[in-house]
Amino acid sequence: MERRYLVVGNGGREHALAWKLAQRDGARIFVASGNAGIAADPHVEACSSVSPNDVEGIASLAEKLAVHLTVVGPEAPLCGGLVNTLRARGLPVFGPTRGCAELEASKYFAKEIMAAAGIETADYRVFDDLELALKHVHARAHPCVIKADGLAGGKGVVISSDPLFSAETLRDFMENGRFGEASKSVVIEDFLVGPEVSFMAVSDGKTAYPLATSRDHKRLLDGDFGPNTGGMGAIVPSPDTSPELEQLLMTRVIEPVLHVMNERKTPYTGFLYAGIMLTPDGPRVLEFNVRLGDPETQALLFGMKDDLGTALESAAAGHAVPMGEFDPACCVVLASGGYPDAPDIGHEIRGLELETPDTYVFHAGTAASEGQLVNTGGRVLSVTARGKTPTEARARAYARASTIEFDGQYFRTDIGT
Ligand code: AMP
Ligand code: GLY
Repeated sequence: MERRYLVVGNGGREHALAWKLAQRDGARIFVASGNAGIAADPHVEACSSVSPNDVEGIASLAEKLAVHLTVVGPEAPLCGGLVNTLRARGLPVFGPTRGCAELEASKYFAKEIMAAAGIETADYRVFDDLELALKHVHARAHPCVIKADGLAGGKGVVISSDPLFSAETLRDFMENGRFGEASKSVVIEDFLVGPEVSFMAVSDGKTAYPLATSRDHKRLLDGDFGPNTGGMGAIVPSPDTSPELEQLLMTRVIEPVLHVMNERKTPYTGFLYAGIMLTPDGPRVLEFNVRLGDPETQALLFGMKDDLGTALESAAAGHAVPMGEFDPACCVVLASGGYPDAPDIGHEIRGLELETPDTYVFHAGTAASEGQLVNTGGRVLSVTARGKTPTEARARAYARASTIEFDGQYFRTDIGT
């Protein structure tokens, strides 16, 4: 039976979503807007003229294509109310409404929900007045963590080890409006220490089931040095996880969020991502995302054994189903030279035609130019592999990465370790 799915977004995560949905017999996958690599993928049809942030355009496209489900990748359209619009038009969609997406769009809202749900997180204060914030950092212990309240593309978190730098950061955020409205108010919280785990679940509004755990490598350089990036690679499962921890995160984090959102009459349907730090005092939530992580998704879905379309259609219809096993998988991000500050783009990418078993190259920042495929963004390709063990997956991903070449290309050599 034909099943038609529309994936909204244009990065590596959306390529992986499209690839995985396409594994179902009879599935037809559309991606808006996609990218050059997605358009060239024989599994997928790219709808390049509709932007992921064009809410009305996406709704019209979903209607015209008569899709059985729209799956939304990035946070911006979710925060912009795409799910509300699709639902209002009677179109099936998997994702949180605008109100629920506040969990990611406002760090303060997330803290409020955590307080109401009894979820453990760093102690914090919220400020929308610069003078009061300055007074607070002058008096408080350091290091501390300063977070822009709103969406800042992953760049709105600053760890500060002295009051002078904290004051400078606050002025930059609140006075100079470094992230516009998003940094007019800030959350200032305690600095925590410990390994980080990405924990994601699929929720139908009442019940949620976990996906495999993963570890994202956010820093640019090997050994976790250098600036934060969108993510340089991921390994599934997280090296720090256990079945007991996963159970604990379901009962202490995911389920309490669903409970509170239900009490507030805004049931949470969609992927729910908890960024967790395993501190000596136990797991603490650093952030919520209302979508899947990038690049965690590329590894997660490439190793997932169950059918994704079935799981998401069931959850969207109000009866989520548990997802079974996941193979270990590893994703290595190939980035442009100069990333994250000033990516050096426009270079031909060579070596993509090779096909190796149990590996797949998902595209993020690529475009077709004069018959060639060129790099157009910071993160260019997500080279992903699965294996019987994380070590095998990792070796396969790196073997494939070594066959791809473009001028300036950079990747970390320690993903998954
Ligand atoms: P967030 O966007 O809130 O997840 O923050 C981005 C990154 O900043 C996290 O992945 C952590 O590495 C770091 N971070 C955030 N909050 C804290 C905290 N309270 N203590 C230490 N590191 C943090
Ligand atoms: N990989 C972290 C994120 O997607 O926010």
